[in-house]
Amino acid sequence: MSSEWLGDGQLVVVSNRVTVASPKKANQAGGLAVGLLAALREVGGIWFGWSGETTLEPPGPVRRQRSGPIQYALTDLTVDDFEDYYSNFANRTLWPLFHYRIDLATYNHRWYAAYRRVNRLFAERLQPLLGPDDVVWIHDYHLIPLASELRRLGVENRLAFFLHIPFPAPEMFATLPWQRELALDLCNYDIVGFQTETDVRQFLAYVDLELGGQVTHAGWSRVENRRFRVAAIPIGIDPDEFARMVETPEAQRQRQRLEDSLGGRKLIIGVDRLDYTKGIPERLKAFEALLESMEPSDHGVSFVQISAPSRSEVPEYQRLRVEVETLSGHINGRFSDADWVPLRYLNRSFSRTALSGMFQLSRVGLVTPLRDGMNLVAKEYVAAQDAEDPGVLVLSRFAGAAGELDGALIVNPYDIYQVARAMDAGLTMPLDERKDRHQRMIQQVRHHDITGWWSKSLRLLRERPPLAAE
Ligand code: G6P
Repeated sequence: MSSEWLGDGQLVVVSNRVTVASPKKANQAGGLAVGLLAALREVGGIWFGWSGETTLEPPGPVRRQRSGPIQYALTDLTVDDFEDYYSNFANRTLWPLFHYRIDLATYNHRWYAAYRRVNRLFAERLQPLLGPDDVVWIHDYHLIPLASELRRLGVENRLAFFLHIPFPAPEMFATLPWQRELALDLCNYDIVGFQTETDVRQFLAYVDLELGGQVTHAGWSRVENRRFRVAAIPIGIDPDEFARMVETPEAQRQRQRLEDSLGGRKLIIGVDRLDYTKGIPERLKAFEALLESMEPSDHGVSFVQISAPSRSEVPEYQRLRVEVETLSGHINGRFSDADWVPLRYLNRSFSRTALSGMFQLSRVGLVTPLRDGMNLVAKEYVAAQDAEDPGVLVLSRFAGAAGELDGALIVNPYDIYQVARAMDAGLTMPLDERKDRHQRMIQQVRHHDITGWWSKSLRLLRERPPLAAE
């Protein structure tokens, strides 16, 4: 199977978070994990990453296990490394910085040392698994230095990187004390993939302004003696799989259960990890503004906000949770009636199948992050709709998906009155317009689907730099 894509080698995928394939886990997994599973199921190969376990002693050997065409290779991390590399540097430095929240970013030298140490550990543990023709596809902000560490060990394989989150504006990135090292780490890959053309532009602007690099041939760049290719490769979903999922008895049971509870009211839905990038407090305030603008007798709407727990060991996430709980209580206290609660806030996760049924029932889907690499919930929302009676997507202009889904009502998520007006427009939109907008969006979702994402990435991985001597 692999030869069509990779010649004699095999695909080696590396990510911090690995979803060991079991139907249940795959149904709970997020965008990154679903996308990587799709590629590996098709092409076969190794998936290397963190096991999800921490140890007090130095971690034991890499654990191997096979599931169909996928060979998993997993390493534990010590408790201290896990904390400083993952909870701290990845999630309290890079994550807020790359999402334009330097007010929430902490710059700490000990955390950075742990980040480099874990990347070195990953490289040392990965190297013995690599065959000479294998291609290595490395994912996300946890592993930016991995190419440099592999090259230091003498690895000559083709190396690609994909950043699932946004790349910030150069001035923003320049606040990071280790900006130069990390940018040069990125230049050590053969291919650097981003979600959108905006991310590509930001990165190349940084390379130009701060590293004195040049764009040479179409898509190829050079910094010092490194030559690498930068490309926008927007991630997608499998819309047919999602459309099948929504027809399953489980999805329809969820849909029915929710419908029965609504008492004929229209449903607005939001689904995110409980993360400060997702704009959940702003969205709740927008809903409050919508309720304020209506006569109490017109309150024919319920808003279900599902916020899956995430990174709950990180203080910024703990504070967000309190904020969202307080706001939800405030809104319900202010507007509820004896037989109606306007907002249902669910701090738990649901299977993708259950979500598909709820998406299909809703009249409005709210995807209003303050900043987001792509946001696959937006695409899943579109794929779950009944084309004859579709819901309306309200989408933040700051989600990567906004560049594709022009049939959505595009909003500035910081402008709560604009979001409130968009909710109202979605609730009252005539069927013809809803169908027309949905039609445009589903075409885009099909056009940028998951197969296109991984196959374009693998195609670029095989390309060699042009020979022209620049
Ligand atoms: C985002 C990141 C992924 C990450 C996921 C879940 O989508 O881009 O790399 O795996 O969030 O976050 P977690 O910290 O639980 O892995």
